[in-house]
Amino acid sequence: MSIVNKEKLILGIETSCDDTSICLLSGNPDRLEQKPNIHSISYFSQEEILKKWGGVVPEIAARNHLLKLAPLIEQTMNDSNYKLSDVEAIAVTVKPGLLGPLLTGLNSAKTLALYHELPIVPVNHLHAHLEAIHIDQDVSYPYLGLIVSGGHTLFMLVESPTDFTMLGTTIDDAAGEAFDKGGKLLGLAYPAGRIIDELSKIGDESKYQFPIGLKKSANCDLSYSGVKTSLRQFIDKNSDVLTNENMMADVCASYQRAIVDAIKLKARYAIKKAGDMTGLAHMDFVIGGGVAANSKLRSTLSHSYKKAFFVTPKYCTDNGAMIANLGLRTFNKESVDFPDCLELDARGRAIPKEKLHQQSRDAKIKARFEN
Ligand code: KG4
Ligand code: ZN
Repeated sequence: MSIVNKEKLILGIETSCDDTSICLLSGNPDRLEQKPNIHSISYFSQEEILKKWGGVVPEIAARNHLLKLAPLIEQTMNDSNYKLSDVEAIAVTVKPGLLGPLLTGLNSAKTLALYHELPIVPVNHLHAHLEAIHIDQDVSYPYLGLIVSGGHTLFMLVESPTDFTMLGTTIDDAAGEAFDKGGKLLGLAYPAGRIIDELSKIGDESKYQFPIGLKKSANCDLSYSGVKTSLRQFIDKNSDVLTNENMMADVCASYQRAIVDAIKLKARYAIKKAGDMTGLAHMDFVIGGGVAANSKLRSTLSHSYKKAFFVTPKYCTDNGAMIANLGLRTFNKESVDFPDCLELDARGRAIPKEKLHQQSRDAKIKARFEN
């Protein structure tokens, strides 16, 4: 079966961390206001495998991607009405993420490109988390984006599918890390975000006070190392939390509230900064990434911002649809034709290490003076 007019049939590959996911999607790269068509999507989550390690081990994650990529690509094609020879481009995550896992996805993309003489669209995983909003919702540019995931927490001004400016970020742990590391201290399974979200629903969020990092900094940088340390100290003094279900729910709810309140506070500065940069008094606010599935974050930000748009939960955690979707949206500008695409490389970090260290050093010095 072939796609009519200027539509492109794109295969998306995501392997930046511990989820292997493939998606077959089509759409017209010249008509980005139209929603793409998702034909099929497949996932393999390493959650169960990684549970016993208490987190992601890059080498193990890479090995599992290698085992799963070919069967998942086959499954994705079988679940659609298309054949691999119908595919017109491969979109693949090339940054940021864990280098070994990224390379497994990129090498699969190159193998398919070589065999079928296809172009590759290299995709930035973080941008894909935000642009996933366009899969099924109407949001216009420019918009303020917030990515809250296991590896990143950052505010961005998004002016087009290829134009992203970072406004602020965490100087230490990401929001998802705060959930996962906090959960580990509480004896909860990895990744603990979803479990803390569930337990919090039956807990009292005002029972305990956990700190909000960089509270006094009038900017949109965040810090989550303090809230985690404070939880550790709390558990040291109140070890009954580990066995008392009611107390566990109250601690989870209070800890979650601190994580969410920090975002709520910093979003105000991000909106102001985005407004100053664009001269616009109002713009849409898009929230994506794994932690965007959090019910407390969703209710808090929706309550505070009429124009808050959350990426649909199934497209929040790492998935191939968001990669194929951004591949489609950037196809005209970023796709690399065969055979040049065989030279593409993956990069672990989005921001050069030296710059990141400088930024985080500056913010830490500032925090030391404030606290
Ligand atoms: O975006 P993602 O799938 O992977 C990264 O790119 O990091 O995000 C995974 C993160 C994990 O830290 C997980 O605990 C968190 O998202 N997460 C949640 C929820 N669902 C997933 N955190 C809080 N509440 C949730 N409902
Ligand atoms: Zn992610």
